[in-house]
Amino acid sequence: MREIRVAVLGASGWMGKVHTMAFETFPHFFGTSNGTARVAALVTRNPEAAKEFAITVPGAKVRGDWRDAVTDPDIDLIDICLPDNMHYEVAKAALLAGKHVLCEKPLADSAAEARELADIAREKGVITRVGHAFPRNPVHDLAKDIIEAGEIGEITMFRGCQHVDVFADPAAPFMWRADGNLAPTGIVGDTGSHVFSFMEYLVGRVGSLIAENSVFTKTRLTEDGGQAEVTNPDATNVICRFENGATGLVDFSRVATGRKFMQTYEIYGTKGSIAFNYDEINRLRFYTNADPEGRRGFREMDVGPEYANYKAFLPLPNFALGYNETKIIEAMEVVRSIVTGTPMWPTFESGHHITQIVDACMESSRLKRWVEIEPS
Ligand SMILES: NC(=O)c1ccc[n+]([C@@H]2O[C@H](COP(=O)([O-])OP(=O)(O)OC[C@H]3O[C@@H](n4cnc5c(N)ncnc54)[C@H](O)[C@@H]3O)[C@@H](O)[C@H]2O)c1
Repeated sequence: MREIRVAVLGASGWMGKVHTMAFETFPHFFGTSNGTARVAALVTRNPEAAKEFAITVPGAKVRGDWRDAVTDPDIDLIDICLPDNMHYEVAKAALLAGKHVLCEKPLADSAAEARELADIAREKGVITRVGHAFPRNPVHDLAKDIIEAGEIGEITMFRGCQHVDVFADPAAPFMWRADGNLAPTGIVGDTGSHVFSFMEYLVGRVGSLIAENSVFTKTRLTEDGGQAEVTNPDATNVICRFENGATGLVDFSRVATGRKFMQTYEIYGTKGSIAFNYDEINRLRFYTNADPEGRRGFREMDVGPEYANYKAFLPLPNFALGYNETKIIEAMEVVRSIVTGTPMWPTFESGHHITQIVDACMESSRLKRWVEIEPS
């Protein structure tokens, strides 16, 4: 049994806590035969959190500077849970140091950076993963199995959205997510990239698109009582064409008043359709022309223990896996891939494809026209 020593960077933030929990927890559900993990280093700039870590993650080194973790010979895997603008620099340093890397989304601020990271990873022969965990909910494996079995025929259209209202109130305070220096692509890399990850996983590569970004509240109140300019998009509408000929209609927003977390997709095919709504996180709706005339309609299918990643947690269908379980699955898959070489998704290669879509949205909105995405 091999133990992977993990350094979590940005450990006191939301994702830092979730990833720490996920690496420490997954063997309870998935066993130890494909490797275990130990969070051996935590990087935080928060002294209070550092005191807590001494109790919650005993024995882990607590650092203030990410560079110390990246060069630490006792670390196998660098787990980047830092603000978006740091991903490229930190991931590159980690890869060059020969570390395996799990990086939160968006992988990088541009497709060129993401390409460079994927190339370095290949040269170094290390394992990479981007933190697009939503599609790793087993309900989407059910969707993928239905699509790959041809049960909905040729895909004609993907329609998806992700909406939140964290910035809907014009009085909501400024934070790094609204700063074009710290999060250059704003909602596109933040939330759009999640929808794009479903597209990449379930439909295929996007070949061209037209997008329109909007900023609705131009300045926001800062902690010191001043005003800061919002320099990245609040909301985006996208029309796209996939390489396989399917069309796509996608929208995402952080200013959707009343929507705390809305994530949906519908995939239409020549023989049937599937639909997902995060409000029913274990449920897929499936329609097939194979049903007899007069008996057709969307049927509800609750994912259950037929899927190993579901069964690991629960013996009965529809007991509901949640967000954190998808992150536990992610941690397990990263360690298993390092230890056994089992392929996984999404690596930095897919992260690059997703970043290409983000780039194309930014370019299309700026140029106000359709943009082609270079095949890789
Ligand atoms: N996959 C998902 O579903 C998902 C969800 C939320 C966030 N994210 C991504 O995760 C990343 C982190 O987001 P979050 O919501 O956890 O943010 P957060 O603000 O809660 O956490 C970021 C942490 O990084 C720390 N930090 C910032 N600069 C640092 C530095 N130079 N050295 C050390 N620590 C530093 C901050 O103190 C903070 O603790 C972002 O890239 C975000 O896009 C992904």
